[in-house]
Amino acid sequence: MKRKAYQDRIIYQIYPLSFKDSNNDGYGDLKGIISKLDYLKSLGIGMIWLSPIYKSPLKDNGYDISDYYEINPLFGTMADFDELILEAKKRDIKIVMDLVINHTSDQHKWFLEALKDKNSKYRDYYYFRKGNGKKPPNNWNSAFSGSCWEKVKGEDNMYYLHLFTKEQPDLNYHNEEVIKEIEKILKFYLDKGVAGFRCDVINQIYKTSLENGKFSLFSRGREHYENQEGNFKILERFRKEVLDRYDDVFLVGETSALTPKIGQEYIDRRALDMFFEFDHAFCKSFKLIPIFKKSFYKPKDLYKPIFKWQKEVSWIGAYLENHDQLRSVSRFGDEKEYFKESAKALALFLLSLKGTIFIYEGEEIGATNYKDLTYEDTNDCMSKSAVDTAMKLLHVSKKRAFKWVNETVNRDNSRAPMWWDDSLNAGFNEGHPTWLKVNNNYKNINVKLEENDPDSILNFYKKMISFRNKSDILKDGEFKEVKSNSYVAKFARKLNDEEILIVVNLSKKKFKEKSLDESKKILISNYSNHINNVLMPYEALIYKIK
Ligand code: GLC
Repeated sequence: MKRKAYQDRIIYQIYPLSFKDSNNDGYGDLKGIISKLDYLKSLGIGMIWLSPIYKSPLKDNGYDISDYYEINPLFGTMADFDELILEAKKRDIKIVMDLVINHTSDQHKWFLEALKDKNSKYRDYYYFRKGNGKKPPNNWNSAFSGSCWEKVKGEDNMYYLHLFTKEQPDLNYHNEEVIKEIEKILKFYLDKGVAGFRCDVINQIYKTSLENGKFSLFSRGREHYENQEGNFKILERFRKEVLDRYDDVFLVGETSALTPKIGQEYIDRRALDMFFEFDHAFCKSFKLIPIFKKSFYKPKDLYKPIFKWQKEVSWIGAYLENHDQLRSVSRFGDEKEYFKESAKALALFLLSLKGTIFIYEGEEIGATNYKDLTYEDTNDCMSKSAVDTAMKLLHVSKKRAFKWVNETVNRDNSRAPMWWDDSLNAGFNEGHPTWLKVNNNYKNINVKLEENDPDSILNFYKKMISFRNKSDILKDGEFKEVKSNSYVAKFARKLNDEEILIVVNLSKKKFKEKSLDESKKILISNYSNHINNVLMPYEALIYKIK
């Protein structure tokens, strides 16, 4: 059976603000991306997911859209976007857009109209409600801390709903016109030739009721808007009315708070083609509670949740990093002695999983978290409010609160300007101050350096990507967990009578491995010499079993 594009190609996520700044204004842009298409081609990826490039005041770095039909002038023009699609197509690379439709920016004309005129039809595009006495209309929390209701200035006891920052008012999916507007946006970009959409917080768009939520410290109200039947219906409608009219296009959902059963339902009902799970992203790889000096992380905290999803759903978006997570080598690998080995082990692990593989910019060179970021350097709106909350709840200084937030959730860690070479600003631009500071380890970690080193992380990614691109068993094979210890991830992939075994030591420990006898053929590995019956620190291999 012919595979769909999303089943066949590896997807590379670009965070446009940070990828490449072509006009030296401190912000990445579309022309910058175009200039790096040959690099992406040489990496072997087949699609690019662009984090939002639409017009936006950038309160949440583009996840607050003020015009879906315009490109943020910082990134370029619609003509640049058309050129990007064309140039990518020449290299057989498809473009995937980020679809942010749970909310708009408070600067979107619909919201501005709704504020200006109580009787405007746009009032009902959002949730405007009277407060409950002196309190907001209900007790829900915003994902970025505090109430998710903001008072409307100049109106008596009137609020609007925002599940994220107050600059991101939620759209009302009970309103038929809102659904039609979104269908128009989908068509607009599909007509331009995009291959699909990564749908932001897509399992929360339909609010069944605005009743108070059950007691919970940080996430009150979720039972009223997560994975509701209305949510499925809207996505099914997008499929039938829009997506089915185009050839080979897909939706991947960003879906927190999912069980495999609900995830599979999204796929079976063709509401989504796949989704991202968050169990492994929330694993205890960092000091969750600031008073503990030590992290209790063991590699099984990473691989067990991933395996659960691999076993229980038919397809998935597999990833270790994105623009909302810490860098994977800093989190799950080793930044010191086994830096290269651990980054390569993570690459082999990720690229052997079932589903569509997502690589995040910089992951392919072993990009790390910052070492020296301060509160003043930080741009991330979520981290700033987390610092405020931590200071209030834990009565700690700003410095202490920031240290903890930075080590656990600061999204800026993955948003640093890309490490291209060892020139000023890591080759991201010609030296203009960058919107977020450059990670100062760029002289040792960068694309140019790694391109010239046959043993680099980048060259291992290329090797592993090319291996996967040619492998039917990795693309189509079933997933089978193999018994192992807490440090070593082991699984098999099986297709017809072929079977391969993947063994990944995700720790600094050395293991005796009886099972790995010489007769088994090593197909690919991250060490140049494998010692029989020994698994070295962060050693990772794929064996042919049958
Ligand atoms: C998603 C995005 C994140 C954004 C949030 C609100 O989780 O990935 O970056 O802040 O949605 O749109």
